Amino acid sequence: MTTLLQINASLNNGNGQSSQLANQFVAAFHQRHPVAKIIVRDVAAADPVPHLDAERFGAFTTKPEQRTARQRAVVAYSDAMIDELRQAKVIVLGLPMYNFGVPSQLKAYFDHIARVGVTFSYTDKGPVGLLTGKKVYVFAARGGLYAGTPMDTQTRYVRDFLGFIGLRDVEFVYAEGLAISPESREAGLAKAAAEIARLAA
Ligand SMILES: Cc1cc2nc3c(=O)[nH]c(=O)nc-3n(C[C@H](O)[C@H](O)[C@H](O)COP(=O)(O)O)c2cc1C
Repeated sequence: MTTLLQINASLNNGNGQSSQLANQFVAAFHQRHPVAKIIVRDVAAADPVPHLDAERFGAFTTKPEQRTARQRAVVAYSDAMIDELRQAKVIVLGLPMYNFGVPSQLKAYFDHIARVGVTFSYTDKGPVGLLTGKKVYVFAARGGLYAGTPMDTQTRYVRDFLGFIGLRDVEFVYAEGLAISPESREAGLAKAAAEIARLAA
């Protein structure tokens, strides 16, 4: 049976539009597929991931027997988040756009799960991602309209990062135009809802 990991990255916690779209998908998916376990990781509001600093990054590069107690805790925290990714067959990401990019806490989460020898390795043929055989669904909520245009650097970045750690089967659903007008918001949410129903079937 499938374990599903839902990652919320909205500063509005479970009330964020991206989290709500992720919730909608998880509910629809759960109805149609056997799901053993749903893990929810809120990286921005409920349990914000701290930004990487020299001590934190140093924890990853220091040999286990030489780590300080604080560094051991940092590694254990990162290991726990990577373990959730390893357990999951399906990963659902609620992705707000903030100032053209990903929420900074989501970047901090990425910084804690990109670990050489753990989630990717370097080979003579280049980097190889180690988190394979998983499906990722991304629910992107935006005030404006960017999907499919050169201004949407967020999609490219998220796709590249996930691919780097081995997550190559990634589907994006967009709810756009949420801040333009009530009509545009409604249309953006309706389009996303239709996509959600199609993907969860
Ligand atoms: C700090 C902040 C920055 C934002 N920057 C952008 C932006 O650059 N482009 C955009 O289309 N919408 C922007 N928005 C609108 C959000 O993308 C939109 O409200 C979306 O629903 C956020 O997802 P959430 O509700 O899950 O937090 C911004 C919103 C906030 C709060």
